[in-house]
Amino acid sequence: MFDSGFGGLTVARALIDLLPDEDLVYFGDTGRYPYGPRPLEDVREFARQITRLLVERHDVKMVVVACNNASAAALDTLRFEHEVPVVGVIDPGVRALLTATRNRRVGVIATVGTVASGAYQRAVAATRAPVHLQCAACPGFVEFVERGETDSEDVHVLAERLLAPVREAGVDALLLGCTHYPFLAHTIGDVMGRDVVLVSSADETAFEVRSILDETGLVRRSGRGTGKGRHMFVSSGDVESFKRLGGRLLGPELDEVEAFTWD
Ligand code: DGL
Repeated sequence: MFDSGFGGLTVARALIDLLPDEDLVYFGDTGRYPYGPRPLEDVREFARQITRLLVERHDVKMVVVACNNASAAALDTLRFEHEVPVVGVIDPGVRALLTATRNRRVGVIATVGTVASGAYQRAVAATRAPVHLQCAACPGFVEFVERGETDSEDVHVLAERLLAPVREAGVDALLLGCTHYPFLAHTIGDVMGRDVVLVSSADETAFEVRSILDETGLVRRSGRGTGKGRHMFVSSGDVESFKRLGGRLLGPELDEVEAFTWD
């Protein structure tokens, strides 16, 4: 699996908990992070490079694109180019969102790149569910999380402004369509109010991975549920900070991080 950085570790956590016997290689492209403000073509090319690396060097049986931006930019291309199943976070997130809504007014918040790509708008339309969707880009949220500032007055003020469109749309379910946003759940929840359900795609993505592994017969069956999967973490940026921040987000499984340098 891969993400632009360490935000996808929320998906890794869900996967490790659900499928403890599976081996996992997590690639965090922190050397080229963030993806959100970049042109979609650049993000697509990054995603292609990382997927090739995972398939060719690590011989993976499935690739999880644990990044909303990369899923929006590259999922179709990756599926076309590789034989192994490629799972993104957008469809699982949309499924969870549609399950959560009662009043059929739903919201998605994400980076500028993801919202502008139209990927969520298309994914919701493809379900043909009779819902009204309001999207809002939230530039600045990722940077606050990076600084560890998830509950400050400043992030609260920014959230008030950026979340205004989804609030005014009267949504009762809001998908956090960026890997970093679950860390702002407290602030976002405060601004949206207690009647709005915040939805994250991590668990639903893990369920989708399990179904595909089951359906394709690729699931690892130790038969004992011993939780002996090996977990490997690779970062294209500063390994020490990945270990420090990533360890805080994921937990004890993240003890070693391998450095990777793009040529
Ligand atoms: N991983 C990105 C996403 O989920 C957020 C961070 C970034 O912009 O690279 O959209």
